[in-house]
Amino acid sequence: MYDFIKTEFIEPGVGLIRLNRPKELNALSPELMAELGAALVDFDADEAVGAIVITGNERAFAAGADIKAMANAGAIDMILDDPIDDWSQIHQITTPIIAAVSGHCLGGGCELAMSCDIIVASESARFGQPEINLGIIPGFGGTQRLTHAVGKGIAMEMVLAGRVLDAEEARHHDLVNHIYPLETYLDEALKLAAKIAAQAPLAARMGKEAVNQAFELRLAQGLTYERRLFQMLFATTDQKEGMAAFIEKRKPLWTGR
Ligand code: HXC
Repeated sequence: MYDFIKTEFIEPGVGLIRLNRPKELNALSPELMAELGAALVDFDADEAVGAIVITGNERAFAAGADIKAMANAGAIDMILDDPIDDWSQIHQITTPIIAAVSGHCLGGGCELAMSCDIIVASESARFGQPEINLGIIPGFGGTQRLTHAVGKGIAMEMVLAGRVLDAEEARHHDLVNHIYPLETYLDEALKLAAKIAAQAPLAARMGKEAVNQAFELRLAQGLTYERRLFQMLFATTDQKEGMAAFIEKRKPLWTGR
């Protein structure tokens, strides 16, 4: 039902989205991004899905926004059509999302990966914000999320000089959680997603929300925010079940309530 992505439900509880414009190195066209947004919203609304994995192919996660689609745009088009609005759908998703990255992960592709909660990479993954080579700067977090992740100096080099980080450098600079061989990186990402999907769903969603607030709030506000979510979880059946299961030395059976 999609033209530029493929979706799949993987038991037990993982929604897999493959970016699928292989000839264009998964360049993120407006049409692809609209499909990605729709698929994310669908998986997010599906209670059977406890984690989402976004991936590309071995050669490219995504080589950026589609340059051919925006080459002739003017500033007024960019303001009025604001293609980046569609991209922002991912930030409304409460289900944890893992990016499984191999090959080129550039520009909007790197920004998409950084909009996910965890990045798992193959040994061939390469991360960059090469927009400067096109006479622009990043437009979807490549100066913001990147700086939070790798720090000012490396972010400046990437944004100003187009430096590309290989997988090891990306892990060294905290952009990437894990690196695996090409043959296994997607399976490992799916395993991690399955592990998250096996947790109490409301707690997982609130854990994601609370960690993300660390980037928005000052410490005292963030601690208050965390405390309220922590307290709220005591209204859930899953909190009662989780603690009873611990005391009774058995596995908890989550209901997502
Ligand atoms: C459109 C792209 C593309 C892109 C690659 N292609 N990247 N098309 N937009 N971002 C197309 C090429 O035109 C080519 O099509 C085909 O994919 C294969 O690419 P090649 O260049 O032939 O492959 P290779 O020589 O292996 O080089 C790979 C590469 C290079 C280093 C990744 O393609 C490259 O530099 N791509 C652009 C990367 C970039 O600048 N990204 C930032 C975009 S701006 P044909 O038809 O010729 O075979 C951005 C802003 C985001 O992302 C803002 C937020 C919305």
